[in-house]
Amino acid sequence: MPATASTTASTWPTDLVIVGATSAIAENCTRLWLEGGASRALLIGRDEAGLDRIATDLRVRFPAAAINTSVTDLLDVPSITSAVQGFAGPGTPGAAAGAGLTVLIAHGSMTDQAESQADLAKAASVLQVTGVSPSLWMEACADTMTAGTIAVLGSVAGDRGRRKNYIYGASKGLIERMAEGLQHRLAASPLNVVLVKPGPTATPMTAGMPASGLAPVSAVAADIVKGVNAARPVVYAPIKWQVIMTVVRLIPRPVFNRLDF
Ligand SMILES: NC(=O)c1ccc[n+]([C@@H]2O[C@H](COP(=O)([O-])OP(=O)(O)OC[C@H]3O[C@@H](n4cnc5c(N)ncnc54)[C@H](OP(=O)(O)O)[C@@H]3O)[C@@H](O)[C@H]2O)c1
Repeated sequence: MPATASTTASTWPTDLVIVGATSAIAENCTRLWLEGGASRALLIGRDEAGLDRIATDLRVRFPAAAINTSVTDLLDVPSITSAVQGFAGPGTPGAAAGAGLTVLIAHGSMTDQAESQADLAKAASVLQVTGVSPSLWMEACADTMTAGTIAVLGSVAGDRGRRKNYIYGASKGLIERMAEGLQHRLAASPLNVVLVKPGPTATPMTAGMPASGLAPVSAVAADIVKGVNAARPVVYAPIKWQVIMTVVRLIPRPVFNRLDF
């Protein structure tokens, strides 16, 4: 899917819904959106203590903003349906926010490829948490929201399957096809879908990786917020990954198969 510039003008959200709000990338994005003037944030996740810690911090930093939390099983279909109805269904503040509502879907898990290959249950969990669940959140949002923006954290890992992380990469590839299809379906509507593709970023997910190859999470979040506000269909963060992954995608298969990365 090409990372084209959108014709939509940049809009700063008034209302935020963050799914997987304990993610370090999501937390940094939430902070930036609130700094820029968003007035309400609903933080959704599975970890009550983690959500409370982030909400408390945000309430201190942004006393004028309304910060709420919701402990939700992110993988459970009825829970997804009811959560989305609760924040974007008819009569909710989210529905009233219209174009001012931005939903960021951020959760995912990256198990070691060798572990996922050796244990199908682990592979199933990565695919479920990182691919299927975010896709269902996107679908539920698209079926409920009438305006605003649905943003989802994919990854550069979804751009081409590689022996070192294709199970995680496949789940991000699923997100990409979902985002692409929803963008096609909603092309004539005021509801935007933004696929974000971060490169390797310094967060708890990448703890243990060499720091030199990781972008600072604050810089990645700034690129994400800018791209989501502009409703760009695809946002690479940092932008250099757009060039790198274009080259990676173009490497002919016989050459690619000899590369060990
Ligand atoms: N860091 C990177 O290099 C990088 C690069 C590209 C894309 N991404 C993507 O960016 C997103 C955020 O990652 P991050 O770097 O911010 O990592 P992170 O801080 O480790 O956040 C991971 C998030 O996923 C949630 N999660 C993990 N397993 C879950 C499960 N079984 N059920 C529900 N929620 C679960 C975590 O919730 P808990 O707090 O409850 O565990 C947390 O909110 C992910 O989708 C990731 O794939 C990250």
